[in-house]
Amino acid sequence: MPRYLVTGAAGFIGSKVCRLLLDAGQEVVGIDNLNSAYDPRLKQWRLRQLSGVANFRFEPLDITDLEAVERLFEREAPLAAVLNLAARAGVRPSVANPWAYFQTNTDGTLNLLELCRRFFRGGVRRQRSVRVGVFGERNRVMRPVQARSRREHELFYNRSGGRVRAD
Ligand SMILES: NC(=O)c1ccc[n+]([C@@H]2O[C@H](COP(=O)([O-])OP(=O)(O)OC[C@H]3O[C@@H](n4cnc5c(N)ncnc54)[C@H](O)[C@@H]3O)[C@@H](O)[C@H]2O)c1
Repeated sequence: MPRYLVTGAAGFIGSKVCRLLLDAGQEVVGIDNLNSAYDPRLKQWRLRQLSGVANFRFEPLDITDLEAVERLFEREAPLAAVLNLAARAGVRPSVANPWAYFQTNTDGTLNLLELCRRFFRGGVRRQRSVRVGVFGERNRVMRPVQARSRREHELFYNRSGGRVRAD
């Protein structure tokens, strides 16, 4: 049975992705560092919803810890795919502490890409989905829009007079 690695498994999107994979009969290894960017009890609650499900395993792990993640890749090989949903999300805190964002979103992602390059015979396939939203307009419905490419994202941004930002 194909085994999937989902990072950020205790997060909003990652936990849903785990559930969808499990419902589809797949085996899932979830990792998350359970940081306190927001109340970790919510993350624990999400994990509890998954913990009883057959074929789900969770390990508390930080994707910036290359050696630990490498050991996981060795233990869990062969993996069918890695879905990287571990992230520092949220716009305002990124200004207060950009280093935390850089470490996870850049160094952590690079760790995973490098391990995928080494462990997957077929290498890494890029799946880009850029989501953008309108920020800063009070008393108006915030309607997210989806850009299919960086170019489309730039067009949204330029045509909106700089009001549309990457989410
Ligand atoms: N929530 C949305 O509506 C939405 C929409 C589009 C895209 N996204 C993207 O999906 C991704 C996940 O977003 P989310 O809303 O689920 O955020 P989230 O904060 O709920 O989940 C992220 C998870 O990653 C974990 N994490 C953070 N740093 C880590 C690290 N170094 N090692 C291991 N785990 C770590 C956190 O503990 C958290 O559980 C982000 O890239 C976000 O930009 C989210």
